[in-house]
Amino acid sequence: MSGGQNMKKTSRQAIKTLVPEEVYTDRQEFIDYFYNYAISAVPRRAMSSVLLGHRRMGKTEIFKRVVNRLFYGQDHKDPAAVVPVWYSFRDEVTDRWDFSVRYAENFLRWYAGFRFRDPDIVSASSVRRQELPDFIKSNIDMTPGLTGALNIFQWLLERDVTIPEETALMLPRLVSDRDDSTIVMFLDEFQNTHLHNFRVVGYMQEAVESPTCSHFVTGSAMTILSKEILGRGALFGRFDSEPIKPLTQYWGAVLSLRAARHYRAELPEIMAPVLSDRCGGNPFYITAVIRQAAKKNEAIDSEKSLNSLLAVDLSSGFIWAELNDQVTRWIQRINEYGITKWVLYLSALGENDRISPEDIRKQLAEKEGTNVKIETVRDVLVMLSRGDLLEYMELGGWFRKTDDPILSDFLKVWGRIEVEGHSRPRVVTDIVRKYTRQERRIRDQKGYLAEVWLSQILWNGQGKTFPGRYFHSKADVTLPDRFYDMIHRLRLGASEKSEADIYASARDETWICESKWWETKKVGVNVVNDLIRLSEKVTEFEKKEYEAGNPVPVRCWLFAHNGVTGPAEKMLRKHDIFWSDRSDLDALIRETALTRLICRKVG
Ligand SMILES: Nc1ncnc2c1ncn2[C@@H]1O[C@H](COP(=O)(O)OP(=O)(O)O)[C@@H](O)[C@H]1O
Ligand SMILES: [Mg+2]
Repeated sequence: MSGGQNMKKTSRQAIKTLVPEEVYTDRQEFIDYFYNYAISAVPRRAMSSVLLGHRRMGKTEIFKRVVNRLFYGQDHKDPAAVVPVWYSFRDEVTDRWDFSVRYAENFLRWYAGFRFRDPDIVSASSVRRQELPDFIKSNIDMTPGLTGALNIFQWLLERDVTIPEETALMLPRLVSDRDDSTIVMFLDEFQNTHLHNFRVVGYMQEAVESPTCSHFVTGSAMTILSKEILGRGALFGRFDSEPIKPLTQYWGAVLSLRAARHYRAELPEIMAPVLSDRCGGNPFYITAVIRQAAKKNEAIDSEKSLNSLLAVDLSSGFIWAELNDQVTRWIQRINEYGITKWVLYLSALGENDRISPEDIRKQLAEKEGTNVKIETVRDVLVMLSRGDLLEYMELGGWFRKTDDPILSDFLKVWGRIEVEGHSRPRVVTDIVRKYTRQERRIRDQKGYLAEVWLSQILWNGQGKTFPGRYFHSKADVTLPDRFYDMIHRLRLGASEKSEADIYASARDETWICESKWWETKKVGVNVVNDLIRLSEKVTEFEKKEYEAGNPVPVRCWLFAHNGVTGPAEKMLRKHDIFWSDRSDLDALIRETALTRLICRKVG
């Protein structure tokens, strides 16, 4: 996963991506995975797949890049090449005939466009619909499958088939099955199939089962996708799934810097990981704050300025526009009881993560004078959860707030403006104040930067072996081959000393890291003592958390910029604790092929 190489790629595109190449960051693993998986459909090894994750994590951008790579990266004349097809389900209710003709036409355009390597055929700017069949007949080697597809397209236009949506959905598979060729369908916004008043999902079942024609699916409403469409019913068990998470702290920082360069915002390097942290590694939020800074011509040079820009954007900028659109659409769709807005707002206001339907019911009565049954509140909460606005724990039958911190804050602001009717300038001022007053979350920015490095080294170095000297270990060091979880700043108790800078769990080992970017002094025994105590706490924590009789061993790793004192070193050796100084860190950065975040020496 190299970010740097993205920047030089040519920009030939069959489907236009939104993110400029000089900003696009990471996600290479996903692009490679789906590309290779698509290619593996040729020897019939691919299943249909779904890319699952929260909104604005970059799923659409990934799919588009894979499609473009398949479009331009293969020999398009080779009958064995994989033909990529892109289709995005619309957000509006359509007539079944319109849908079917559109789906079939789109397929034919991609098929022909690929064979000609001509994106204009795809975008319908060079050959019109009426001429498409003749164009294909006279320019492409006609196979039995393609001949059949053109017949069917004609019948669809003439409305001479019985179930048009079934016919259209089966069309790609018909071609690849008949010709023994390979087609991969990339379907975005798949949750919208739920809006249609005709069945798509049911007929999809047969379409997606073909080994000659895999369907790769993604969309925006994760809950609908995973629980309602893919998790039960016709499509259950027919998809492989690939989860997508926020960017790691490191990649989030890289994106911040790239976006700042592109949009011409001022962002000192030391603030890049702080920005990424505040945005929860969400690429859309990160970009929004950068663009807000550029627009306002304000430097993001402290946590204070970051907070105030974030507050402004959240309450009236790019983030507001996007989230407001999401919330409004969703509410319009489900406003069955007229209390949906209130329920959403009140659910965001509660103090705890767990949402209490009873509290909401009471407050509705107080604030609105509306008496509703608790079942009604629960119904509304379930509907809201389908739009990913909160989470519904189906098995336990309870609800909790979204784990997206920005969405969570947004809902409070939105509620005050749109539900309670407070004046916008007032609310904006309040949130800016609140954010600005907030305690600094990251006291030691350089230490945090090193932390971001350490965790990325752990990610990139999974399963790899490094010379022991970088860790001051006699033996070479092999990192666990898979970390399940990596958390920054895990608090295990009330005091600051009981916070692990990094907590990373693997099957047979847990790693905790402590980062000290002290440029003028060496790390002494106190820090080492704290680390040892912390590792004991981690063991206790894991015992409790996982009720494991034998918790896995805890491996400690200390970063000390300027090295450690003699007594500290003795103690580290005695307790078998890894430690690295600045030059070791630099070596590890090189070995794990990470691009330098900070090009010059910091501060
Ligand atoms: N890898 C990335 N690098 C930089 N920005 C990204 C990246 N992925 C997503 N973005 C930003 O996030 C936005 C949402 O991406 P998108 O692919 O539409 O997300 P999703 O389909 O998961 O909702 C993009 O418009 C862009 O601003
Ligand atoms: Mg999308």
